[in-house]
Amino acid sequence: MQTAIKPEQKRVKSHNLLMSRPDSYDLIYEINAWMHKSNRPDKRLAWDQWNQLHDTLTQKMGANVELVQQAQEAPDMVFTANAGMMLPNKRVLLSHFRHPERQVEEPYFEQWFRDHGFEVLHMAEDCAFEGEGDAFWIGDYMVAGYRKRSDICSHHYLSELTGANVLSLELIDDRWYHLDTCFLPLKDRLAAYYPEAFDHYARRVIQEHFDAIPLSPEEALKFACNSVVIGDQIAMPAGCPNAKFALEERGYKVHEVPMTEFIKSGGACKCLVLQLDPLNS
Ligand code: ARG
Repeated sequence: MQTAIKPEQKRVKSHNLLMSRPDSYDLIYEINAWMHKSNRPDKRLAWDQWNQLHDTLTQKMGANVELVQQAQEAPDMVFTANAGMMLPNKRVLLSHFRHPERQVEEPYFEQWFRDHGFEVLHMAEDCAFEGEGDAFWIGDYMVAGYRKRSDICSHHYLSELTGANVLSLELIDDRWYHLDTCFLPLKDRLAAYYPEAFDHYARRVIQEHFDAIPLSPEEALKFACNSVVIGDQIAMPAGCPNAKFALEERGYKVHEVPMTEFIKSGGACKCLVLQLDPLNS
């Protein structure tokens, strides 16, 4: 069922985001190196941190946030970055998750996209793709991670669909299992990254294409790369003073947001947000 775009919906470039309130956020399975059922999130604190991120994005950074209702049986659906990847002409490539625990989210995200006037494209059944967690635009390139969650076949499809130059980057460490945990696109040719998360070849690709600011292991472990960039403002997980300083030196205004309860599940600011506009510039 496809419904028309709401006429009042405003489409300010790069400022429309999708989030999901942590109504049923929890940790009841383990599908990445961060998740331990013995270390479940404090739900009240998670709500508080989610609200702080939401308010930072809307009130300080000028974003418009749309909401998708979290399904009860999908405790990780708060991580909307994994819903899909926006493409030009109001199309979205819907994610096809690696793990069955998260595949239950696919129909809910699909419904939301259809209800909001997006044309939904699907991956092949045997090709995993985890949306903006593993692929994003930077300048006229698309950078995309593979091996842990997304398969490289998804990059071929992205390139075919968009005509973009896709830079495929191999992820080699289980703690940095999505590209958005270890690579932060800033603008045009500027990015921050955690070099050790990538294989040798991917590091060279990054260094040759970008002015890439390397971040320390300590701050990469605090999800410094998992930040939301809107223009010259950034929402960054709290506790990363060196990354904050490096970005301030490049002219960014950095807002720190505590993310401890989401880091327990292997996510932080960026994972909780999907860009609804196809270009990140
Ligand atoms: N627990 C979630 C998972 O393992 C976390 C997802 C984080 N999302 C992201 N874009 N890095 O799938």
